[in-house]
Amino acid sequence: METKDPYARGQGALAARYARQVAARLDLPEPERRAACYAALLRDVGKVGVSDGTLHKPGPLLPTEHELVRAHARMGHDLLCTVPALQEIAAVVLHHHERYDGGGYPDGLRGEAIPLAARIVGAVDAYCGMLARRGHRAALGGEQARAELARGAGRQFDPRVVEALLVVLDDPPAEDEAEDEEVEALCGILPGFDPAPEARRAAQ
Ligand SMILES: [Fe+2]
Repeated sequence: METKDPYARGQGALAARYARQVAARLDLPEPERRAACYAALLRDVGKVGVSDGTLHKPGPLLPTEHELVRAHARMGHDLLCTVPALQEIAAVVLHHHERYDGGGYPDGLRGEAIPLAARIVGAVDAYCGMLARRGHRAALGGEQARAELARGAGRQFDPRVVEALLVVLDDPPAEDEAEDEEVEALCGILPGFDPAPEARRAAQ
């Protein structure tokens, strides 16, 4: 994913960390925290199905190109669905571009109808996107990006999620938290992955 989209380099782990922290602040049960974390990491995997020319176009996209980019949510979902352990994560990835006010995609879900983990990933994704430079748009500073989050509360974003994310952003990770820590250490074991069969085999 990062080879395909150099602007995304290093963003996956950062987004995964924020998603986990926000999910914890909102008291989600552990399996949902893990799903939010992995979905943040894998949210844009569907972009492997979008041509480089469209993905990196230096300028505004044509409506048809917009459609192709927007298709990454469903393509990511379909790709992850082929892996049994990633089913729950696929559902979150599918809805990571829905908007709280119903104006998002792919299904135009509104408010609580959007899975909470997807609302978390959506806000984290938008925040990380604001900090990254894109071909035709300069990066925002941290303060500006936070102001944008606050402005979008109740419109693009779930206000509760924004509130929790702003608290998380005010509380940066400790120095000793490795930047490139292993995915499993960061996210936990995949929610849909049952290690029991192997444990049972090992015990035999
Ligand atoms: Fe996305």
